[in-house]
Amino acid sequence: MNKHSALRTESLLERAADLYGFAVPTAPRSPDGPAQPRPEPETHARTATPAVPDARPEPAARYVSPPEPRPGAGGREQKLDRALLREAGFIEPDAPVGPVAEEFRIVKRQLMLGVTGKTGIAADRRQTVLICSSQSGEGKTFCAINLALSLAGERDTEVLLVDADFNKPAILSTLGLEGEAGLVDALADPFVDPESLVIRTDVRGLSVLPAGRSVTNVTELLASGRTPEVLSLLTRDRPRRIVLFDSPPALLASPASVLASLVGQMLMVVRADRTTEADLREAVSLLSGCEKISLLLNGTGFAGNGRRFGSYYGYGQ
Ligand SMILES: Nc1ncnc2c1ncn2[C@@H]1O[C@H](COP(=O)(O)OP(=O)(O)OP(=O)(O)O)[C@@H](O)[C@H]1O
Ligand SMILES: [Mg+2]
Repeated sequence: MNKHSALRTESLLERAADLYGFAVPTAPRSPDGPAQPRPEPETHARTATPAVPDARPEPAARYVSPPEPRPGAGGREQKLDRALLREAGFIEPDAPVGPVAEEFRIVKRQLMLGVTGKTGIAADRRQTVLICSSQSGEGKTFCAINLALSLAGERDTEVLLVDADFNKPAILSTLGLEGEAGLVDALADPFVDPESLVIRTDVRGLSVLPAGRSVTNVTELLASGRTPEVLSLLTRDRPRRIVLFDSPPALLASPASVLASLVGQMLMVVRADRTTEADLREAVSLLSGCEKISLLLNGTGFAGNGRRFGSYYGYGQ
């Protein structure tokens, strides 16, 4: 079996961990030589570990009851622009499962281990996930949207996709949605109910919270006591909801590290053809406020609309 076929059997999470040496299947690997200790390697190792039967009782029987309408989600329902999604190579809702959908199904399963409490994330944080990367253009928004679409397809899960890239919001335009007020507005005004700003979509189980108006002090707003309150308002009566935050790049914008300290887990998007190990390690140390960080390898052979973005198989050759 050659290197390529051996690697292809692993998920994107496992391949990313292998590629950057951040994880081992069952226990932290002893460093192969680098003098510096790796930042938080155990967290990555846990993610790459297959599901271990959990002897503890489920904390709250989540994801068991049938989905119900979400009457509180304010505003009218909007339609996702299927043509836009198709053109950019995203998962198409209600379409037959393609390669991208298949890859994100596996990522979703790993993520759900954390959400359902099987990996030790504190109960009040399990529902929140940050999608981050070190630099711009590595695929955070691409992965956040695909994960959201994939999670929304789960029978007992609803997903709220939050645009937290405040300087360069892209979720609404990528999905073909319209909206203005969003997370920043709810953070800035304690009388604003964040739920009233949530946009419902025609994809069952998927709603979106825009970034909101542009302000200069977004990092300070995020660091205020209002942020945990807003997160709690978005999750506390909705045990089936997973909140995915599309982050700005960790090395280019400070809100990323503040968000990392508030969420239960983080997916760190890496591109084999672009992300350097130095950037990745610096970003991970900046984001170390998050206890569970997993690497997600992007651009490894997804063929969106017949195009290929990057190629893991040519990496290092
Ligand atoms: N695996 C992929 N397959 C197809 N297209 C991809 C893939 N990954 C990223 N892209 C495309 O590459 C471009 C950059 O990706 P994206 O916007 O998701 O990066 P980002 O990390 O969110 O960047 P920024 O930090 O600037 O917001 C987008 O046009 C996106 O649709
Ligand atoms: Mg983005």
